[in-house]
Amino acid sequence: MNIGLDNIVVAQTILSEVDGEKGRLIIRGFSVETLAETFTFEEVTARLWEGFTQDTTESLTLELGKARLRAFEILPSFLDIANKLTFIEGLRLGLASLSDKEEVPHHYLLTGAIAVFLAGLIRSKKGLPLIKPDPSLRQAEDFLRMLHGKRVDKSLEQALDKYLITISDHGMNASTFTARSIASTKAGLISAVIGGISALKGPLHGGAPGPVLDMLDEIKGDKNIENWVKTELAQGKRLMGFGHRIYKVRDPRADVLKQVVSSLRSSGNERLIFAEKVETAILRELVKHKPDRPLHTNVEFYTALLLEAIGLERDVFTPVFAMGRVVGWIAHVFEQEKTGRLIRPQSEYIGKKVCDRQTAFQ
Ligand code: ACO
Repeated sequence: MNIGLDNIVVAQTILSEVDGEKGRLIIRGFSVETLAETFTFEEVTARLWEGFTQDTTESLTLELGKARLRAFEILPSFLDIANKLTFIEGLRLGLASLSDKEEVPHHYLLTGAIAVFLAGLIRSKKGLPLIKPDPSLRQAEDFLRMLHGKRVDKSLEQALDKYLITISDHGMNASTFTARSIASTKAGLISAVIGGISALKGPLHGGAPGPVLDMLDEIKGDKNIENWVKTELAQGKRLMGFGHRIYKVRDPRADVLKQVVSSLRSSGNERLIFAEKVETAILRELVKHKPDRPLHTNVEFYTALLLEAIGLERDVFTPVFAMGRVVGWIAHVFEQEKTGRLIRPQSEYIGKKVCDRQTAFQ
């Protein structure tokens, strides 16, 4: 029996490889560093979907633009209820409102909808008017424009683009496995993506970056770092942004994102310098705390700093993660539908075996 399915291979994939020993991530043949450095999010998406759709980067950019316009028409239908929910719940509700009969191809619609719904939800909760998508723009550019009502600094658009690339796919993680399990029943792409987003929401998966900033705020200053970290670990708490099921060394995405944050912030930026001090102290204490379990910085630590530097608030971090990861979930659903089989593992029953109702209540 293997609770947690560690090291169990459940699919062959051409999409991505997570090498936990060497700390390497390959997506469709390219290292995550190369992709973040030289590709756009649309180029990465086209590569992820290659062989499953006929898309070029140009056609995909065009279709995503059209899909954003369609999503904008749907947005008002659920906004009243969504305004009473958290952003990730609102996004889940918005996706659940999409019909399986929707004519816009679902892979474009879902990808476009997450950006449109999220920007709309953020503005709506602030009482601001909704901004219609501009289909000529790329996803990261248009998301920030729909959010702020105008184009923002190019460096911020590029930083978000690089973030979306960095987290676009990552092997058989919990949300991808969920999406593939749903796809394996032939329930369809929309249901699979709703499943993916529901799994991503958990603090052990995509819900960690907000709490990373909470942690930095709670520690407050240099003098408090060591004491805070020791106390938390002594109380058996998990430190957000550290540890990973697969990576036994540093998560390569953390370094990619750290570089992007550094490029955005001036060298004297206090937040980044303080975060680095906290990171150093945590890594030092984690070695002592769990000498047999390598625990290193994961993607969420620098995600938090990057999304904060872009000007996003912590309660939208997980939905922004979904904006990037959705293209990976979709690629996995395509692959599952093409090559997979109904996913149906076994469980071992350890409960009672009662013969009849009367014996049960004796
Ligand atoms: N802080 C303190 N202790 C930790 C941490 C951490 N961040 N991570 C693991 N440990 C400890 C556990 O408490 C456990 O100790 P125990 O054996 O005494 O119970 C031991 O290390 C092994 O932990 P596991 O639960 O076996 O590790 P697993 O591989 O299941 O967990 C996970 C991976 C969930 C990411 C974990 O490291 C964690 O909870 N990290 C904090 C949350 C986080 O950063 N999540 C984002 C992950 S990245 C992503 O999904 C996009």
